[in-house]
Amino acid sequence: MNIDNQKPFIAGNWKLHKTIPAAIELVKALDEAIMELADAEIVVIPPFTALSEVGKTLQGSTIKIGAQNIFWEEKGAFTGEVSAPMLKDAGCQYAVIGHSERRQFFGETDETVNKKIKAALTHALTPIVCIGESLEEREKGETIDKVDSQIKAGLDGLGKEEMSEIIIAYEPIWAIGTGLTATPAQAEEVHSFIREKLTEKYGNETATCAIILYGGSVKPDNTYSLLKEQNINGALVGGASLEADSFIQIAKESIKAYKEK
Ligand code: 13P
Repeated sequence: MNIDNQKPFIAGNWKLHKTIPAAIELVKALDEAIMELADAEIVVIPPFTALSEVGKTLQGSTIKIGAQNIFWEEKGAFTGEVSAPMLKDAGCQYAVIGHSERRQFFGETDETVNKKIKAALTHALTPIVCIGESLEEREKGETIDKVDSQIKAGLDGLGKEEMSEIIIAYEPIWAIGTGLTATPAQAEEVHSFIREKLTEKYGNETATCAIILYGGSVKPDNTYSLLKEQNINGALVGGASLEADSFIQIAKESIKAYKEK
């Protein structure tokens, strides 16, 4: 099934947070509010340990589940890794690939990102591919070059069919967990560049339907202005996704922005 951006796409990346009982409590609270959020695509991205129980809790719900990482091999002697079939088995439909924290602390490169995208697609998991520049790169005026090179290398060898199953998340590293959100104009500049690149590479139809998320200190009070921008189709939320109230509020703000754009 090809993705499309008719609804805002709001995903909560819980990172290294939540035990199994805390995860269940959070998704139950989200599920109780789901009727009001029907005009958004809602995804939770718990730690691996909670995936299966969250999957069971959300059976029959429209809330979808993603993993924070994936390995490119299906099985074998790869201690500590988790494969696409295992994630599917645990109830996942999405997988975050190349988050800047994984690039920074765990040696993720554009090359491994590319392998992981291919593995995810082979097993019908939708990749959420993260790209974005550091503060130093932004200050040197290298933002566009950085994003360009990450797209080029990360999506190497992938065709139009494949691209229509991939979500891109622009997350400027300097905005992650810092409370420093990119202004809507700063975010839109990069988002429109990304869509332009996708148009060049894959044509108008694929690029127009592509979901391009923004991530980096998204909160209830900045969601509306970000999502009002033409090329911002949703948010990848970290800290503010850990509490049901703020995550629900972000989803509601995104629905409002989408209706008004
Ligand atoms: P914060 O919302 O905590 O800045 O995290 C963003 C992020 O990295 C989501 O993947």
